[in-house]
Amino acid sequence: MKQTLNILAIGDVVGRPGRLILKDKLQGLIDTHRADIVIVNGENAAGGRSITPDIVQEFLSIGVDVITSGNHIWDNNEVLKILDSESALLRPANYPAGVKGHGYHIIERKGFKICVINLQGRLFMEPIDCPFQKFNTLYDSLKDSVNIIIVDFHAEATSEKRAFGWHVDGRASAVFGTHTHVMTADEDILPAGTGYITDIGMTGSFDSVIGINKENSVKRFLTFTRVRFEVAEGNCKVNAVVFDINNNGRTERITRITT
Ligand SMILES: [Fe+2]
Ligand SMILES: [Fe+2]
Repeated sequence: MKQTLNILAIGDVVGRPGRLILKDKLQGLIDTHRADIVIVNGENAAGGRSITPDIVQEFLSIGVDVITSGNHIWDNNEVLKILDSESALLRPANYPAGVKGHGYHIIERKGFKICVINLQGRLFMEPIDCPFQKFNTLYDSLKDSVNIIIVDFHAEATSEKRAFGWHVDGRASAVFGTHTHVMTADEDILPAGTGYITDIGMTGSFDSVIGINKENSVKRFLTFTRVRFEVAEGNCKVNAVVFDINNNGRTERITRITT
């Protein structure tokens, strides 16, 4: 029998409005898309800034398997207490050696061994270790022990993200971008079978500027002074994608979701 594995990946959850809409919609999404694994980017889950141990537990209790993150994971000191011990919570793998936490997590489902890797880009971001080289190193150490590799590539520049997709085509089963909070329409299956999308968007208020209060954001761009950072509340949605991956580790279908 041909077995497929469906991976549901959910864009950056922004603050309480994002957590509430995720809680409201997640089970329906899992059922509708027959999701076997749920990955959520949680870097903005606590008031827009990082995540807390309680929110990690809340996510795991509603059916999330792996929580990825990015640059904002460092915005809350509380999370430092669990970064080493909570295996399902990732920070980008290409932070310098010695930084707390870990950048990948392996789970078993339906007879597959799946590794979720979190990496972060460097263009217009912190100049951390090279994500392209880091992937090579991780791939060499993991390829004999896992069947499927999924990457959350957390980055600002579309060029860096698309280049990364080509870099890992045929080695990762799927790559999805996060961080910009705006879903792109360039989902594709690359020639060697990697499912790819530049950004999967966000989960939270769309009556906003990427999840943040729009009046404050406009004021900031008008004045370039310090303006209060506030999570927005209206018109909440979930942005996500589903990758259908076959038993050869190739993506057969990629579906964008906004709900
Ligand atoms: Fe984010
Ligand atoms: Fe980010």
